[in-house]
Amino acid sequence: MRLKDKIAIVTGGASGIGKAISDLFAAEGAAVVLADKNEDAIPEAVESIKQAGGRASGSAVDVTQRDQLAEFMDKVVAQYGRIDILINNAGVSRYRPFATTTSEDWDIVLDVDLKGVFFCTQAVAPHMVRQNYGRVVNISSALGTGAAPHKTAGSPGGSAAYASAKAGVIMLTKTLARELGPSGVTVNCIAPGSFLTPFSASTRTPEEVQEHLQHRKSTVVLGRLGTLQELAAPVLFFASDDSSYVTGHTLFVDGGRSDRM
Ligand SMILES: NC(=O)c1ccc[n+]([C@@H]2O[C@H](COP(=O)([O-])OP(=O)(O)OC[C@H]3O[C@@H](n4cnc5c(N)ncnc54)[C@H](O)[C@@H]3O)[C@@H](O)[C@H]2O)c1
Repeated sequence: MRLKDKIAIVTGGASGIGKAISDLFAAEGAAVVLADKNEDAIPEAVESIKQAGGRASGSAVDVTQRDQLAEFMDKVVAQYGRIDILINNAGVSRYRPFATTTSEDWDIVLDVDLKGVFFCTQAVAPHMVRQNYGRVVNISSALGTGAAPHKTAGSPGGSAAYASAKAGVIMLTKTLARELGPSGVTVNCIAPGSFLTPFSASTRTPEEVQEHLQHRKSTVVLGRLGTLQELAAPVLFFASDDSSYVTGHTLFVDGGRSDRM
């Protein structure tokens, strides 16, 4: 077991990619805390991990609320004694053409996807520094370095806010790695390509989702879609001691998407 007795927090852990990461971490021996804004989704996600024999708990957390976060981290430490791993996974998108993107669209995407990563890491850092041990993994996106065509099959186009936030996450990873490295804390980043989750449908009709995934399948080097388990496995690498001498790194898990190369 790669995470035996480790304490891991996964933001946005009640759905999609965050849930897949939580499942894998629990199977690898970690006690996982699912920190999600969607309170209603937490009990089922926690229960399914327990049913599979893992250790999990949940907490209603909004990653944009700085004050809540310090309190949340303190509660986790009071309950489990330490925090070894933070996965900054919570995210939202508001795809909309640049010309009609509103200030509210911009703010919600930048607040959750970039500022949330900053706030959560800032809140966990004192605990990890005190322990002289920590693993932080940020979830960016292939859109963080490669501008997708404005409109592709099944996509509404308009990722200015989302791509800017996800590019920021890649740079934030490097700067935090520098600041926290001397204290035994590594900070790395995963940039996923397209994976089928509720997120895929948040700005698309069911037909557009299918069209989008078909298009992605035909444009990645590996010629197929990836599974959530194939995405969770590299996150495990960064969260475990297998990556003890790696920090500040962004790994693309996208089947070889040509539009980020
Ligand atoms: N699905 C993809 O194709 C894809 C591709 C690249 C990157 N990503 C990134 O992966 C991450 C997870 O995406 P997903 O596809 O699993 O989406 P999802 O919508 O299935 O899950 C996102 C989770 O984040 C939670 N969340 C949203 N705002 C929050 C907040 N303010 N505080 C706490 N929790 C909040 C939601 O409640 C939800 O449970 C996101 O950062 C997303 O940008 C996804």
